Amino acid sequence: MKVCIIGASGKLGRHLVAQCLDRGYAVTAVCREQGVPKLADFEDRIVMLPGMSNDRSVIERAVATADAVLTVLVPWGVQGYATGTAQAVLDFARPQSRLVFSCGWHIQRSQEDHYSRAFLLSIAVFGWLARQIRLADIDDQVAACQRIFNSQGRWTVVRASDLEDGESEGLPRWRPHVGDPALAHNRTRRTDFARFMIEALNNDDLVHQAPAIASRKV
Ligand SMILES: NC(=O)c1ccc[n+]([C@@H]2O[C@H](COP(=O)([O-])OP(=O)(O)OC[C@H]3O[C@@H](n4cnc5c(N)ncnc54)[C@H](OP(=O)(O)O)[C@@H]3O)[C@@H](O)[C@H]2O)c1
Repeated sequence: MKVCIIGASGKLGRHLVAQCLDRGYAVTAVCREQGVPKLADFEDRIVMLPGMSNDRSVIERAVATADAVLTVLVPWGVQGYATGTAQAVLDFARPQSRLVFSCGWHIQRSQEDHYSRAFLLSIAVFGWLARQIRLADIDDQVAACQRIFNSQGRWTVVRASDLEDGESEGLPRWRPHVGDPALAHNRTRRTDFARFMIEALNNDDLVHQAPAIASRKV
């Protein structure tokens, strides 16, 4: 399988690269110029395409022959980075390609997603602050996911709980809705988030789903 990984140099992205290579997949990696050194240990085993992930010409080349695209969807800046990234993937990926995107629980898929007041307050405060200092635009990631939800492609949006580093705790559990009591412990190892995204590539039951995930271990 040919897999394109967008946002490959970040913490989650590096897990995605390592695990795809372990599975024998051919990997094309897109990351910012400044992220390239972070992938040095993989450089002779992957095709590198440095560039911003909302650069449509970079994404067009990166996904042209991919069977699957794994996108680390991030809301950095206030220039529509997440929507630009998602739209480029949706526009240029082959119609039959499997598309898996990452995001957090704050992305609401339906009215059946339930959030605590504390969670909503923290998102509102962080979102406001991040926008004031032009660090990030959470609403842009929300809009990006809305475009994905409305699209015809073979997508899955994986919504993760708080992330932590460390050894694998196994494939995370998932539920269709945020707020499910089974996810209340609210933590996932990044390595397991990556594993869930990669396993989703071969799980057609997850097409057009937005699974909310948390660690298997409570
Ligand atoms: N952090 C959490 O607790 C949490 C919780 C739930 C879900 N998530 C989701 O998990 C995914 C990855 O989260 P993560 O915390 O593990 O982050 P990460 O993997 O470290 O990824 C950050 C990514 O953003 C890029 N980036 C950093 N600053 C940037 C900028 N100013 N402009 C453009 N790109 C920039 C990084 O590229 P470089 O390598 O080039 O710096 C990297 O690819 C995201 O989809 C996030 O929504 C995170």
